[in-house]
Amino acid sequence: MRTQVAILGAGPAGLVLAHLLHLRGIDSVVLERQTREHVERRIRAGVLEHGTVALLREVGLADRLLRERMVHHGLELLFDGTGHRIDLTGLAGREITIYGQHELVKDLIAARLATGRPLLFSAPAVGFSNLDGATPVVHFVHEGRERELRADLVAGCDGFHGVSREACPAETFSRDYPYAWLGVLADAPPSSEELIYAYHDRGFALHSMRTPKITRLYLQVPPDEDLAAWPDERIWAELRTRLGRDDPGWQLAGGPILERGITALRSVVTEPMRYGRLFLAGDAAHIVPATGAKGLNLAVADVAVLATALAQWYSDGREDLLDAYSATCLTRVWRVQHFSWWMTQLLHRDPRGGADEHAFGQRLQRSQLEYVTTSTAAARTLAENYVGLPMDWIR
Ligand code: FAD
Ligand code: PHB
Repeated sequence: MRTQVAILGAGPAGLVLAHLLHLRGIDSVVLERQTREHVERRIRAGVLEHGTVALLREVGLADRLLRERMVHHGLELLFDGTGHRIDLTGLAGREITIYGQHELVKDLIAARLATGRPLLFSAPAVGFSNLDGATPVVHFVHEGRERELRADLVAGCDGFHGVSREACPAETFSRDYPYAWLGVLADAPPSSEELIYAYHDRGFALHSMRTPKITRLYLQVPPDEDLAAWPDERIWAELRTRLGRDDPGWQLAGGPILERGITALRSVVTEPMRYGRLFLAGDAAHIVPATGAKGLNLAVADVAVLATALAQWYSDGREDLLDAYSATCLTRVWRVQHFSWWMTQLLHRDPRGGADEHAFGQRLQRSQLEYVTTSTAAARTLAENYVGLPMDWIR
């Protein structure tokens, strides 16, 4: 097989890139390790930045999203039993969108299939050759046979556990956190109109949603936690405690749990996001802890930069944008890394250290929470980062 751009991974990064290239008349083949059913059912992100939605709308990928999304203009920080609203739109001039990542992936797959260009499921890439030459080759398996895909360039959009990251002899910067998230999807209407980020002595909790009938909830748990230790009653009791508030009229709505899982929190950046003709994008290049709701948005921002650079390269042979790709993306990546780390350290209970250190850390958290909920300047910094810096913030 031969194409112009070989794209590994049919997640948000790979599928949006495929579409942006299609619109510029550039051919690609998308290889996805999993089945279509698997990727369309994988419950992950839910918050889309204003700029992500604007880009999807501009390129014709947002019809259903715009019909079905929930628009949020604020979020709540909850501590000591009291909620404090951060007016995102008032402070930063932009709103956020709630729309499940798996719904977006369904839309992106449908759009790809409608172009008639190739998207192969159950087709894992297993390795590369000639990445530093003019015609890199992706080795992949499909229908029981090992095959080769020749291309001008390879876009490694195959996530954190893909083969692209491993193939890049780059430097890695990372930080692990001493906690993870237990996430549940519940057949229960949201108990609040906006997201609630709760700081509690027993650990962080998050109330989010997918639709007016489906709630998405998270609890901070130890990193090695066993899901079996969390029967439904324990999950709901813990959520009620951590999301509890002084207002006696407020209650957390319960319901059947539809899906559950434990996700590690991690910060990772690969630098540079390129090796020869292999370009990393999205989770293949960087991971952020989910507290800032940024991973999907960063993936889309990367491929917007990559598509423009590729279009220039194909149209007039200029390599300057491709050469600048990694540095351009990394400016945003590190801004988002800082914000995601900041939100994470602000809201989680850190089990490390002795009693003294712990008490000191808690007082610093409380001071930050008080500051961000009373100072317009501090709240605006949170809001500006949360709704996302514009796509052309730095080019
Ligand atoms: P992925 O979505 O991981 O896609 C990579 C694709 O490559 C996958 O389909 C995978 O199957 C495929 N693949 C892997 N290996 C191979 C191979 N060898 N060959 C071919 N294909 C391969 N982000 C937000 O912005 N907002 C949020 O609210 C948010 N919440 C989150 C909540 C949770 C619980 C989790 C886990 C993540 C959350 N994220 C959030 C992060 C977000 O889901 C990811 O950052 C996003 O999926 C990244 O997209 P991607 O396309 O780079 O990678
Ligand atoms: C989600 O709805 O899945 C979600 C929302 C906000 C976050 C992380 C995840 O910070």
